[in-house]
Amino acid sequence: MALSVSTVLALGVLPGPAMASGQSSAVQTAASYTSVPVAAARTLDRNPSHLDVFVNKSYPLKPAKYVPKTSKVPGTGIRLRPEATNAYNKMVKDAKKSGVHIKLISGYRSYDRQAQLFNQYTRMYGKKYAERISARPGTSEHQTGLAADVGNSNGACALQSCFENTPVGKWTKKNAHKYGFILRYPKGQEAVTGYAYEPWHFRYVGTSLAKSYTNSGAKTLEHFHGVAATKKSPPKSGKGTATTTANLNMRTGVGTSNRVVLTIPRGKTIKLTGSKKSGWYQVSYNSKSGWVSGTYLSNVSLPKTSKPKTETKKKPAPEKNTGSAKKTTANLNMRTGAGTSNRVILTIPKGKSVKATGKSTSGWLQVTYKSKTGWVSGTYVANTSAPKKSKPKAESTPKKKSSTKQTTANLNMRTGNSTKKKIILTIPKGKKVEVTGSKKSGWYPVKYKSKTGWVSGTYLR
Ligand code: DAL
Ligand code: ZN
Repeated sequence: MALSVSTVLALGVLPGPAMASGQSSAVQTAASYTSVPVAAARTLDRNPSHLDVFVNKSYPLKPAKYVPKTSKVPGTGIRLRPEATNAYNKMVKDAKKSGVHIKLISGYRSYDRQAQLFNQYTRMYGKKYAERISARPGTSEHQTGLAADVGNSNGACALQSCFENTPVGKWTKKNAHKYGFILRYPKGQEAVTGYAYEPWHFRYVGTSLAKSYTNSGAKTLEHFHGVAATKKSPPKSGKGTATTTANLNMRTGVGTSNRVVLTIPRGKTIKLTGSKKSGWYQVSYNSKSGWVSGTYLSNVSLPKTSKPKTETKKKPAPEKNTGSAKKTTANLNMRTGAGTSNRVILTIPKGKSVKATGKSTSGWLQVTYKSKTGWVSGTYVANTSAPKKSKPKAESTPKKKSSTKQTTANLNMRTGNSTKKKIILTIPKGKKVEVTGSKKSGWYPVKYKSKTGWVSGTYLR
């Protein structure tokens, strides 16, 4: 499992559940879509070789395994349709003139690659969540070669909702349409697009369509075309189900002092009876019934007949059964996979308790913290039985040792730990650098070719 996670995610192109923090108000499930008015109905182009091809969950690619003609985007190992490559290059150049440094994170993805990603996310987060952040193979805009996931060259907020507040996030939101790119999965439109907010996902549709789309004021491409996101029937609210987000103990009553009936695995759909008490839900699963803590439930939909919730927000004690208890010894990034090339889900503060549920061969641990699951470097995790003395310090300086790391991209070495600092040189991708001191705000002091300076840790492994 560990290997496949890191293998798949090393190419790190899809968001993980961290996005949910910015989207916690989005309670639609993957199957919950809204029809949009057909007033503006236009002819839908479904020819995958056309730049305006329309693709979503209901309008899959035909043929499903369509392979576009693509060209390499200079300076990256990523491919896009030649038209999109040209437009992207132009956009990057202009942004640079304004001091904004765009980086391409993902472009064309084959059917198989998309399948790999979707399956991976399903394994990690359960199907319901995976559906919100990842297209099934044959339904992704990335397979057309016309979708570009963009980020900041320094890696800030890559594939996270906070990307919207970064220089590239702001610039592209304002300007991408001038180059033929439109923001495809806007905020608050999950019910229509079928996907959670992706401020980084731009779809090349050509400048003419991008212009009319932007001028139309349509909220989504679905609105613009006057189509619903899906042909699936919208689920009734109040269907009386929830999904477990951790291995979850079902108990004979409300509270951890009650006997465990069974442990429901993570990602399972369970039935809710409608009774709720102090943040606990009465549920049935595998023909057993009992109570579970609501902390580890998502997509909670109480049955229609149930009384509206009247309970207070009082948080129940964490209640789950997942692996061994550990403690973080530094502010520690939880990532979507084992390795620093994977996206950061959240940063676990130093001294927090986490549950380890898995281990990679490279020394990374799969942990659960605040109902999120991801991977952390084992270097900064200790057994709770062996408490570490903690230095009171706002920004942690996890370790101080000389080690070697490898660049995962062409990487600027700067005079300080920020992109504001002057570039000393660019270290080519795949080179070994010597880490000469402690990490600071995600940057490492390094030595390369007898020069010393700072590089962003995002591109080191
Ligand atoms: N993340 C987008 C929806 C995709 O997988 O195509
Ligand atoms: Zn994308």
